[in-house]
Amino acid sequence: MWTGESRNKIAIGNSHRGPIFGHTPAYAASDSGRETDLQKRTLGRTGLEIAPLVFGGNVFGWTADEKTSFDLLDRFVDAGLNAIDTADVYSRWVPGNKGGESETVIGDWLKKSGKRDKVVIITKVGSDIGQGRVDLSPTHIEKAVDASLKRLRIDEIDLYLSHWPDPTVPHAETLGAYRRLIEKGKVRHIGASNLDAGQMKAALDAADHHKLPRYEVLQPAYNLYDRTEFEGPLRDLCMARGIGVISYYGLAKGFLSGKYRNKADLGKSPRGSGVASYLNERGMRILAALDEVSASHGVTQAQVALAWIIARPGITAPIASATSLEQLESLIGAVSLELAPADMKRLTAASAP
Ligand SMILES: NC(=O)c1ccc[n+]([C@@H]2O[C@H](COP(=O)([O-])OP(=O)(O)OC[C@H]3O[C@@H](n4cnc5c(N)ncnc54)[C@H](OP(=O)(O)O)[C@@H]3O)[C@@H](O)[C@H]2O)c1
Repeated sequence: MWTGESRNKIAIGNSHRGPIFGHTPAYAASDSGRETDLQKRTLGRTGLEIAPLVFGGNVFGWTADEKTSFDLLDRFVDAGLNAIDTADVYSRWVPGNKGGESETVIGDWLKKSGKRDKVVIITKVGSDIGQGRVDLSPTHIEKAVDASLKRLRIDEIDLYLSHWPDPTVPHAETLGAYRRLIEKGKVRHIGASNLDAGQMKAALDAADHHKLPRYEVLQPAYNLYDRTEFEGPLRDLCMARGIGVISYYGLAKGFLSGKYRNKADLGKSPRGSGVASYLNERGMRILAALDEVSASHGVTQAQVALAWIIARPGITAPIASATSLEQLESLIGAVSLELAPADMKRLTAASAP
């Protein structure tokens, strides 16, 4: 059983697939300019070794243009981090887009940079990309995977996630489709996003019962503000069953960077309106704690917010995005920021739900 102990394991070439997992330990530039070993964590039972911060790809084709996206990905990988999260639906919500733009940017970058062997590619299926509903039917998955592979310009997806639960399709049917994709070499591991404890347990039970591959990874929302969805029965289940957890909205869409303090600040980003619900008393309490802890370490609030998640039980790695190289430094810096027990206590208490 996975207990969280492996979280600080250093990557040492457990290669079952070639250079990416067997490559020499990644290195990150330290404050002194020297290079230090970047610690990696094992993602559940998958055998994938990832740095404890995953790059969120929903900004590609949205708030980051192609050149910026390529620069961000280059810097991310050169700093020793190695997992990139996307979905076939990103970034369909942008006027003029139809979905798939993020995968296309990543695919073009993989082709241009030649860095396929340095990264773990995570993508998702099942969101509405024109079919009009969430769809985890075998027919949809088998079609969608080929489109994702084509856009990503790769032969195999390292981790393929069901984006949202689809109560209209039995787990056994969805998992059966994934088994065929694994057998064909199109997908290496599977997981799910946005399941509650009951749904996750039902999916795990179905896998056991029908002897099908199980969801090895969960992607829930989790950050200093949004804690209740994951903490509790869902976290207990994941820890008991050895499920790797990569949590999204690490920065609460940018709120935990501290740049939004009042309604006038919402104009600071095209996504500012999505942050409005955090502007309340509890949100301000969290920002006050972040201000205090970040000042004491001489780092950014974003760095502290992500370091808090990295240190929480049951978490393999938070996912966060950045739209500039300057922002990206906070994400990279979070990986090496060690918060003292008193810092953790202060942040956890200030954000108590
Ligand atoms: N499974 C799911 O259903 C699901 C849902 C949502 C997201 N996700 C995944 O999770 C990833 C992360 O979520 P997210 O990107 O929406 O939100 P996030 O990581 O919570 O917030 C990131 C945003 O905050 C701002 N930011 C980042 N660093 C900053 C800094 N140092 N200072 C100031 N602002 C900073 C940037 O936006 P601006 O520059 O625009 O302010 C950035 O795009 C996504 O990319 C996606 O891969 C998954």
